[in-house]
Amino acid sequence: MSEQESLLSLAIELARRAGALQRERYETAFEIGTKSAPVDLVTEVDKACEAMIVAALEARRPDDAILAEEGGGLDRAGATWRWVIDPLDGTTNYAHGYPRFCVSIGVEREGERTLGAVYDPLMDELYHAARGEGAFRNGRPVRVSPETELGRSLLATGFAYDRRESEVDNLDHFGAFLKRARALRRDGSAALDLCYVASGRLDGYWELKLQPWDVAAGALILEEAGGRFSDFGGGAGARSGREVVASNGRIHDAMLAVLRGER
Ligand code: 2AM
Ligand code: CA
Repeated sequence: MSEQESLLSLAIELARRAGALQRERYETAFEIGTKSAPVDLVTEVDKACEAMIVAALEARRPDDAILAEEGGGLDRAGATWRWVIDPLDGTTNYAHGYPRFCVSIGVEREGERTLGAVYDPLMDELYHAARGEGAFRNGRPVRVSPETELGRSLLATGFAYDRRESEVDNLDHFGAFLKRARALRRDGSAALDLCYVASGRLDGYWELKLQPWDVAAGALILEEAGGRFSDFGGGAGARSGREVVASNGRIHDAMLAVLRGER
């Protein structure tokens, strides 16, 4: 087994273990706190999943860098491999017992997206991708949708935790797409939204103010499924999560035009 293959099986193993933890503790009494804003939640389960993943990586991959949402692990400079982890994506859903959340684990090699695993424990759906080798759900290849028309497209988005204060609240784009697309969804897990575009359940997705761990795995899964992932200008700046457009590729330019304000 190559190093890359063994890292992929480790990423999948850890995603499944974190997902099992999420499933066990779903709809039980767990502690809920807030982070950057009263609507930015973190639960005991986010922390437990991250602690489990980081402890496993520190034991088995001590030289690798780790960037994890709740601050665990060391982002070691100069490491060849870097793990970018959202231990529980869709925390608000999880806290409310709304059944849409996942764990997302991306791995970069020398700064390039190389591996991704996203696991939805309630649906028991494991998405994974390795660069150049395609994208899969539960071991079967997935592809983006063939839709070419924005007017027949199902799109998803989200609204940032600073929406009570910020005027950059995505309502302008939401309104514009509402008039142009077939329908819009707001389902609360960025990593799953990306996997849904990858597998053709959604035709496109956009969001602002995400973080690298929200998109690290999903962007690779999408690209390997034939999709396109960019910032609002169509460029490569989406990795930070600040501006994200994800699509089947065919409606991408039409989405960018709407985001530029063209009506
Ligand atoms: P989280 O559940 O890990 O916090 C909700 O729109 C989706 O975007 C979730 O996947 C959420 O991740 C993510 N997200 C990341 N940063 C966000 C932000 N600043 N505001 C709202 N959602 C954010
Ligand atoms: Ca999270």
